[in-house]
Amino acid sequence: MAAKENQLNHLAIIMDGNGRWAKARKQPRFFGHQAGMENVERITLAANHLGIKVLTLYAFSTENWARPKAEVAYLMNLPVRFFDKFMPTLMANQVKVNVMGDLTQLPAKTRQVVERAMADTAANTGLVLNFAFNYGARKEIVGAVQTLARAVQAGRLAPEDIAEQDVGQALMTAKFGPYRNPDLLIRTSGEQRLSNFLLWQLAYAELAFSDKLWPDFDEQDLMEFVTNYQGRHRRFGKIDESDS
Ligand code: FPP
Repeated sequence: MAAKENQLNHLAIIMDGNGRWAKARKQPRFFGHQAGMENVERITLAANHLGIKVLTLYAFSTENWARPKAEVAYLMNLPVRFFDKFMPTLMANQVKVNVMGDLTQLPAKTRQVVERAMADTAANTGLVLNFAFNYGARKEIVGAVQTLARAVQAGRLAPEDIAEQDVGQALMTAKFGPYRNPDLLIRTSGEQRLSNFLLWQLAYAELAFSDKLWPDFDEQDLMEFVTNYQGRHRRFGKIDESDS
């Protein structure tokens, strides 16, 4: 299904800069993650009001396990605190939660909380708030390759018939149907890297960078990026987006 060409349906954000935000205030890194978590609520509600269909947030990468143990423990506990605090607001705004990544490696409590958040919001009809949590794009692509290899082994698929659509269908974003590929990626904090985030899905996305640290990135900033995206699309016309 072709979306309206200037409509921003799927926004992906690399929320970067929590640590520097805390450091600038002479606070421990946790303080920045706490502020970053609160900003997730603010930006989710703003994105919902803008009519965005899917908001994918990079919350914990497969590489983040290498951080100090105490910081990893704090990050693992953030979903517990987030849903504890914000679930009533998410429900009131019809936000539907999805968490993509390898959930099997999460501490039991974290896993229970995210699975419950998905179940509790499953019937909601508003924005999909999609957390990438213990997510890495290369790992995701390896998983897709394994899925396709199993289909070949079972005789359901011939190697020469494997198409881009098949790869797209085997990724964790397939469930978002026409909105599976982000239209726009924003990374905060001035860094300009993809950091193993949605490598396949971002093939045709617009990339935008903000110098603001994630806890400072507010509704006004979001509005500016969205308006800019829509302007770019009105000027340059349709991009030939792949369907995969
Ligand atoms: C990057 O900043 C941020 C993270 C690794 C964590 C992002 C998580 C949140 C914003 C909260 C997520 C909320 C939920 C509910 C899971 P950094 O620590 O790398 O900052 P730095 O580059 O300044 O050190």
